[in-house]
Amino acid sequence: MDLIKAINERKSIRAYLDKPVEKEKLIELLTLASKAPSAINLQPWEIVVVAGKERERLSRILLKRMRELQVSCAPGAVKKLPEEFLRRQRELFEVLSPGIPGGIQFQDFINEGSCNFYGAPVAIIISIDSAFSSSRLTDIGIFVGYLLLSAYALGLGTCPIGLITQFQDEIKEELNIPEQKNVVIGIAVGYPDEDAPINKIKTPRVLLEKIVRWRGI
Ligand SMILES: Cc1cc2nc3c(=O)[nH]c(=O)nc-3n(C[C@H](O)[C@H](O)[C@H](O)COP(=O)(O)O)c2cc1C
Repeated sequence: MDLIKAINERKSIRAYLDKPVEKEKLIELLTLASKAPSAINLQPWEIVVVAGKERERLSRILLKRMRELQVSCAPGAVKKLPEEFLRRQRELFEVLSPGIPGGIQFQDFINEGSCNFYGAPVAIIISIDSAFSSSRLTDIGIFVGYLLLSAYALGLGTCPIGLITQFQDEIKEELNIPEQKNVVIGIAVGYPDEDAPINKIKTPRVLLEKIVRWRGI
């Protein structure tokens, strides 16, 4: 598939078919993602692929904890965010809301859905050794970008799930991830339910003027 087409068409998928993903396809996906560049070629990403009943078990644990702790999807801000970012957050809410099944609150859909990997048969959990500084999160981000686009090219849907990083202890215990690792992100992977209204929505992006300053050109 043409890369520019994949970049233009990929979107987060929040409803999946009840159809397993073939192991060969997951191997192909992870092989493509692992072509991502990284500083000093450290390749700091560490991956656990959780599928089928094990994925469901993990989700039951996450859902229980999320309800107990009243955890919610949040921008991960350490200070009050400038208004422009809050506006973008509100805009996402407005854009996605019409795709949410009737009677379900937006926050419940996102929080419960995230912990359940939106019903995807596979969850990819990415962690990094805690000996690395936050600089190496850039490398993980690039790996994730490669993975999302490669999945799209292979006919798979994905949704990055940052919410689950709030449950470090539970995930590490369940997946036997050593204590010195930090879970950075989870990714739901599966075949998209193309009929689900939520999957028909494309989120907007700000104009380049908002994010780019030109100097000398
Ligand atoms: C690092 C990261 C964390 C995310 N965490 C969540 C999440 O916990 N739950 C969720 O539903 N979507 C999550 N998303 C998906 C974003 O909401 C989505 O990428 C964004 O709204 C842009 O839409 P698009 O992916 O369809 O282009 C996350 C995306 C990224 C990159």
